[in-house]
Amino acid sequence: MEPNYDESKVPVYTLPPVWPEGMTPERWRDEFRPRLLRQFAELLYGEIPPPPEETRPELRAERAGALNGLAVRREFRLHFRNGTATAELDVLLYLPTRRPGRVPAFCGLNFYGNHSVTPEADVFPSSGIGPEGPIRQDQVGAYCHRLPLTEILTRGFAAATAFYGQLCPDQPGAVETGIHRLFPGCARPATALAAWAWGLLRIRELLARQPELDPAQIGVFGHSRLGKAALWAGVNDERFARVISNDSGEGGAALTRRCFGESVAAITSRFPHWFTPRFAEFAGRENELPVDQHQLLALVAPRPLHVASAAEDLWADPRGEFLAWREALPVWRALGIPVPEPGDELPPNGGIPGYCACHRRPGVHDLLPEDWACYLDWAAAFSPVTGGR
Ligand code: GCU
Repeated sequence: MEPNYDESKVPVYTLPPVWPEGMTPERWRDEFRPRLLRQFAELLYGEIPPPPEETRPELRAERAGALNGLAVRREFRLHFRNGTATAELDVLLYLPTRRPGRVPAFCGLNFYGNHSVTPEADVFPSSGIGPEGPIRQDQVGAYCHRLPLTEILTRGFAAATAFYGQLCPDQPGAVETGIHRLFPGCARPATALAAWAWGLLRIRELLARQPELDPAQIGVFGHSRLGKAALWAGVNDERFARVISNDSGEGGAALTRRCFGESVAAITSRFPHWFTPRFAEFAGRENELPVDQHQLLALVAPRPLHVASAAEDLWADPRGEFLAWREALPVWRALGIPVPEPGDELPPNGGIPGYCACHRRPGVHDLLPEDWACYLDWAAAFSPVTGGR
């Protein structure tokens, strides 16, 4: 079926509530939030498996004076063991050389290997299956724009990344060959998004143990399908201090009920392994889905959230991402955190800054230095507050 790009064909819909009538902060936290998490696990993402019995970080290389002196570079291999099954994850970490104290960090997965997001040719290259099949080891720095290390490090943040394909191959039918194999007794169905989110949780734990980092200031980011993974990780582990969704679209930050751009039918037929089979049942019946994505965004509360879109990325439904963000805001408000009261449209400059921020930059689907400029300003300005208790 052709995707709908016509605003006048968006169906009339009623969104399920983020803060039902008569809700209290205590009940939201203790009952409503856990119930929503369970519903999202059941209907979309699958449960994130538990930590393995053993995680052993091996420091494979450390280099002071990386990035022309701006950074200390560490390359870790996480060795996971659960029962007799094992798996590995290679994490590339850059710490700012100049550190006024323990510094904040961002972590996120990459699509094409650790070597693809750094200009430094001497990092360990990743290998495995990426979005278009096996990734190429000669693509050193080919996706540097998605992780502008100089800007991030200069602003005093650390950055950590790992190749998503090492956690779970991005191929229908191959999900059980990823980290899910460590957990044969665990609730099924196993999904790729749960495996990628699991990896983000393990990276956060690694970062929290670095003495140079502030464990209370570790944020998670992701672009596109990895933005969906970042959201699922960020709502499941509240120790992530902030959550960034970059162009995460359908099954990410965009409202499913709008049926604009990518649809449930399209995503679940091309990428059946990302979600539980339940999600596909709602193709053409989006209004009957018990949840919608503003509720997922609301689960980031009371922590800072940043949702970003690209104006030409209609497949990801930028307006649906903005509306989901706007419809999530009542939760922050109810938890006593000042957030904007946006109208029906984003302002002409495309952004609403603040603790819960939203921006829409011109251009196509990508994670760009100009997106990072917004994230860095936002992260520098807002630290998580503990609201709602
Ligand atoms: C496809 C898919 C999107 C996804 C994107 C990406 O376009 O349909 O849902 O977000 O890939 O990950 O780049």
